[in-house]
Amino acid sequence: MKHFFSVADVDNLPQLVDEALQLKNNPFASEYLGKRKTLGLVFLNPSLRTRLSTQKAAIHLGMDVMVINMDKEGWALETKDGVVMNGSTVEHIREAAAVMGQYCDILGLRSFPKLQDREEDYSEDLFQKFIRFCKVPVISLESATRHPLQSLTDLITIRECWSEITRPPKVVLAWAPHVKALPQAVPNSFSEWMCRAQVEGMVDFVIAHPQGYALAEEFTRGAAVTHSLEEGIADADFVYVKNWSAYEDYGKIHSVDDRWMIDQNKLTLTNDAKVMHCLPVRRDVELASEVLDGPNALVIQEAGNRVWAAQAVLKRMLEQLAVG
Ligand code: CP
Repeated sequence: MKHFFSVADVDNLPQLVDEALQLKNNPFASEYLGKRKTLGLVFLNPSLRTRLSTQKAAIHLGMDVMVINMDKEGWALETKDGVVMNGSTVEHIREAAAVMGQYCDILGLRSFPKLQDREEDYSEDLFQKFIRFCKVPVISLESATRHPLQSLTDLITIRECWSEITRPPKVVLAWAPHVKALPQAVPNSFSEWMCRAQVEGMVDFVIAHPQGYALAEEFTRGAAVTHSLEEGIADADFVYVKNWSAYEDYGKIHSVDDRWMIDQNKLTLTNDAKVMHCLPVRRDVELASEVLDGPNALVIQEAGNRVWAAQAVLKRMLEQLAVG
């Protein structure tokens, strides 16, 4: 694995999931693989789970880790070419990424979309430039359109919690209300990974969202889509709760309808579904406290599994570096 940006970078998905679960049982099995290798984590936006879990994963592999919060600690970045830099930006990504590549063997980057220009966000221009100029393997810590470490984690968690062998679990991505316009990265990515997992026979996948919240087709091919929450979650085994802003009317909020919030009453429609969320979550806006505090919530186990997802991916990258 050279870079980790989407599910397309994974050749054997069930194998990667199994490897992550093996690492959970034996975290230090490859503790010398990353010896004398440096991981740089570059954040242009805030993070709790991604930052800490990826550091922990790297520590398990014997790596040294450096973290920079570019939004607060770095120079203001210029990302466009051909700009005369006589304004607020101080350093061009061409130099900044190239310099970081001098210090690190693998680089992680988090860069959220601005949610103003869909074409610009979905071009992933900043991410692609970062890969191009740093010249070392890059792991996505969440880009404008995807959050692959989160999605791998989610699949690991579903696999870990599903012991029925006669059928795959019904997994539902359920849109939830929110007060702010959020990116589509997590639901895009979750859908992309679940559609691939469905092809592998690992899940049956359904998306439930109000009218006006369709995700880009490239992420949802193979998914069943409904505009009824009740229909979507009927007999579900896992409900993945997430808000996102509109893709078509880009970055807009069309609905804050609290009838889309999952509470204990709605869970009675499901097959006693486990409830997932990538976190952070706004209690009693996106998801009812009674669910988050109840026996069906998987959110803490899910966040814990971020370590094993990151470790499985870093291990693959280190193995690739070792063979050159
Ligand atoms: N789920 C997730 O990526 O959490 P952070 O934004 O805190 O890293």
